[in-house]
Amino acid sequence: MSSGIRIDADGERKQVTVLFADVKGSMDLAEQQDPEEWRRIMQGFFSILADEVHRFEGTVDKFTGDGIMAVFGAPVAHEDHARRACFAALRMLDDIAEYAAELRRKHGLNFSARIGINSGEVIAGAIGAGSDSDYTAIGHTVGLAQRMEALAEPGRAYLTEAAAQLAHGYFELEDLGEFEIKGASRPVRVFELAGVGTARSRLDLSRERGFSRFVGRDAEMDVLAESLQRAKAGDGGVIGIVAEPGVGKSRLCHEFAERARSGGIEVFEAQAQAHGREIPFMPVLQMLRSYFGIADTDPERIVREKIAGRALLLDPDFVEDLPVLFDFLGVPDPDRPAPQLSAEARQRALRGIVCRLVQAPNRREPIVTVIEDLHWIDEGSAAMLGDLFAAVEDTQTLVVVNFRPEYTRGWNGPPSYREISLEPLGPTDTRELLKDLAGEDPSLDGLAELIHERTAGNPFFVEEIVRALAEAGNLEGDRGAYRLARPVEDTGVPASVQTVLAARVDRLRPEAKRLLQAASVAGKEVGESTLGPISGLADEASREAPLQELIVGGFLYEAEVYPSRIFAFRHPLTREVAYGTQLAEQRANTHAAMARAMVEQSPERHDELAALIAHHMEEGDEAREAARWSARAAYWAGSSRPVDATRLWRRVMELVEGLEEDEETTALAVMSRLLQLDFAWRLGMDPDEEARLIGEAEEIATRTNDLRSLAMLKMATSARPGKPHVASTWLDAVAETNRLADESGDLHLRIAIRAAGCYAYLCAADFDGFERALDEVIELCGDDRSAGAGIVIGSPYAWAIMAKGLARRERGELDEAEELFEQALRIATEEGDPEIESWTRSNQSLMLTMRGEPEAGVALARRNCELTERLGDVFSRSLALSNLGACQLAAEEPEAALESLEEAERVYRGAIDGGDEMEAWRAGVRAEALTGVGRVEEASELAGWASGVARERGMLWSLPLTLRALALALDATGRAGANEALDEAAAVAERTGAMVSLEGIEEARGSIGAGAR
Ligand SMILES: Nc1ncnc2c1ncn2[C@@H]1O[C@H](COP(=O)(O)OP(=O)(O)O)[C@@H](O)[C@H]1O
Ligand SMILES: [Mg+2]
Repeated sequence: MSSGIRIDADGERKQVTVLFADVKGSMDLAEQQDPEEWRRIMQGFFSILADEVHRFEGTVDKFTGDGIMAVFGAPVAHEDHARRACFAALRMLDDIAEYAAELRRKHGLNFSARIGINSGEVIAGAIGAGSDSDYTAIGHTVGLAQRMEALAEPGRAYLTEAAAQLAHGYFELEDLGEFEIKGASRPVRVFELAGVGTARSRLDLSRERGFSRFVGRDAEMDVLAESLQRAKAGDGGVIGIVAEPGVGKSRLCHEFAERARSGGIEVFEAQAQAHGREIPFMPVLQMLRSYFGIADTDPERIVREKIAGRALLLDPDFVEDLPVLFDFLGVPDPDRPAPQLSAEARQRALRGIVCRLVQAPNRREPIVTVIEDLHWIDEGSAAMLGDLFAAVEDTQTLVVVNFRPEYTRGWNGPPSYREISLEPLGPTDTRELLKDLAGEDPSLDGLAELIHERTAGNPFFVEEIVRALAEAGNLEGDRGAYRLARPVEDTGVPASVQTVLAARVDRLRPEAKRLLQAASVAGKEVGESTLGPISGLADEASREAPLQELIVGGFLYEAEVYPSRIFAFRHPLTREVAYGTQLAEQRANTHAAMARAMVEQSPERHDELAALIAHHMEEGDEAREAARWSARAAYWAGSSRPVDATRLWRRVMELVEGLEEDEETTALAVMSRLLQLDFAWRLGMDPDEEARLIGEAEEIATRTNDLRSLAMLKMATSARPGKPHVASTWLDAVAETNRLADESGDLHLRIAIRAAGCYAYLCAADFDGFERALDEVIELCGDDRSAGAGIVIGSPYAWAIMAKGLARRERGELDEAEELFEQALRIATEEGDPEIESWTRSNQSLMLTMRGEPEAGVALARRNCELTERLGDVFSRSLALSNLGACQLAAEEPEAALESLEEAERVYRGAIDGGDEMEAWRAGVRAEALTGVGRVEEASELAGWASGVARERGMLWSLPLTLRALALALDATGRAGANEALDEAAAVAERTGAMVSLEGIEEARGSIGAGAR
């Protein structure tokens, strides 16, 4: 089952920086030289370039004849790949300038190089044929880097905007404006690398941009303050702060350092750098320089004075050690050279010195030393720190260090060592931070939740997402006072965050990385049991170590441990990045494996999971399976989730389009169209779209002589609700539809079609015909309560019982009606048909008012509206609102009634136009409400229109009510005609046997009489 999934994929998507360097005009130059000499010159050039690439841990991808292509960030990931490339470029230009001067002297040559740099995604891996394949990077990112090189002036390095964005602040960049570049669809903004910038770390960058307000972290600050107090009392110690990148280690240290300084305490800071692992002792050197107060610009002599001054004040014995210290700090004293020591011995000497500096007897003032990012520390420094940590006990020194969770410390802290595990910001602090960054404009409502969800409280991610949204134009205005200009649907992953996360993912061990990638395909969470089949690591034991690596590294956490383990991503962004690092093919394989695992492992949940299975099948390029599972999911959503059902049927239709035609796909093609059409009367549908679907379904059904589908098509075109039907033609269409269904011989279809068709009898107020048709449905169902379910309506049986109740209600047999409604409600609940439940409650509520309990009616109708809202279908919602209005009217709340009825109309008309079978009824009730609130002119006009429509179309169920509304309105305007309207109403009601209507009419007659007197 895990076939095709390899732990070592052929390639990966990676975020890298690509650097091209070449000799300007090498052809001309070569011509001037003896070929052998030229070869030597070029070799010198290549080795300069290659050395600088290697110094910053880049890879020379290839030699291009007169230059090189180098990649930073692959195969080994570096989150600072752009910075490494820039450092390398600056040094290359320096070295080559020197080299060129030499060549000019020796050969009279005018030699210069140019460099192009770009950052972005590449496909990296062993690419090529069989054993000839070499590790390389390909993609648009590479091409654009080369174009930058071609564009660059001699002796210059040019960057694209993408690279510049990542290098910004760390380097001085000069904006050269936009250039038209061959192969790029839009002009490219180009920058020249002008030198090193002022920022050394991300926090420096934040400082330059202006720190966001410091939020939260009270508990952590307390721990630090308390340790400082102890150090002051001679009980020094070490504190480690652990967190994933961006959580705020540096910021916390910075805030603490500032507080300590303002309390008069000396603070020294040092920091390991991602690109510094190759430069031994960098952080220790930095620490010592900070300790001795050495500035970059200090002349050597001054440096020596500073060192000697401070050291000797602490302990005169240091005089012996000064030569070693001078040497180490790069300022050897020509008069007193350091003794010749082996590297080993020198290190030992230095370690001794560092410890003695800390423990010096003359030291009276407490000090704080902050050393950051130990996960990047070189071995030499790490060993030295171990000694330092051991030495701080019983001194006045507090050492604060920080590192990421994946760092395994090679040193033992003193017994007093304390570790603070820094958690992401909580929702309240995140909101505070966001308020500071974005402001409080009301248009930003809801953004905090979205951002908190996306960033999981990581302040770096929060800052970067806000910046990205501002750059993308979603936010408008100034920092701290933004307005929402365009709604935020997807925040994306900002490039700065992407590089950090991608590098972390890349640095995982292969199995851990594979597990993470597989998990990212599964979703936000993944169960232990699916992890095996989708990752290719079938054996549970072999998964444990990589899983631990992921948990310790803060990528995943155990969301559940019982009854089985479920792992969840800590950050949605990590998931996205892990997902994006995979090649499409591998990702597709994993999706398909995921789908199959779900099918195999959860047979009892197939219905519920069908949509998800379909999604994975689709992403796994299994279109046929995807279509099958989408259809299953669509059936399952059915009338309880009509919006989902429609969407899924559309998906089925689209998926089938790409498949070979056979019996199954043809059936799905026609079914998916018919069922979309079936939801048209509930949700509305664009008329052109409807016509297209009908045409296509008809074509297929006719071609395959598919009687079932032809019956459903007849239903969809001329017998369904939601049209301005005329009773006689509607009833004819129903009869024809029934005949087609009978002809198909499919019992379920016959039941479904019949049940739906009955509605026409009701609207025509043919209560006998209605009940006969309903009895027929019940009889056809027999003992099978689910017969015909989900084809047109959810449960035909429940509908039939409810509809009989309705007939009884209209005949004035309220006890029977009540019993039938109760029964229908029970069945609908059992059959899982919330739509029929909703219709039943609608009818029940109005019946309560007929029984003289209008308050109870209003209460039930109101609850029904709430429940129905969740269904998301226009038909049921508008029906529920209309019934609420009718109940409110009976409860003598005309204002409220009018509001409900207007809402009902709005809801309906918003989705469906062109008239429908209930519009006269809705208008009649609304007219009564208008009369109730005294808007009598509008009332009589509306009632006049409604009764006209009902009369013309033979909608005799609605007609008496609309006439009654007309009578009341006319009476209120003082115009004539009220009695005539009531007479007509009474005649219709009597003829059709609508006894409840008759009661209402008589009641109206009484009130008209009263009004006239
Ligand atoms: N408590 C906080 N309140 C406000 N901003 C914070 C807070 N913690 C971190 N930040 C900001 O988030 C960004 C990342 O923090 P940083 O300390 O650099 O993370 P880390 O060192 O853990 O990678 C910085 O710009 C920093 O100013
Ligand atoms: Mg940091």
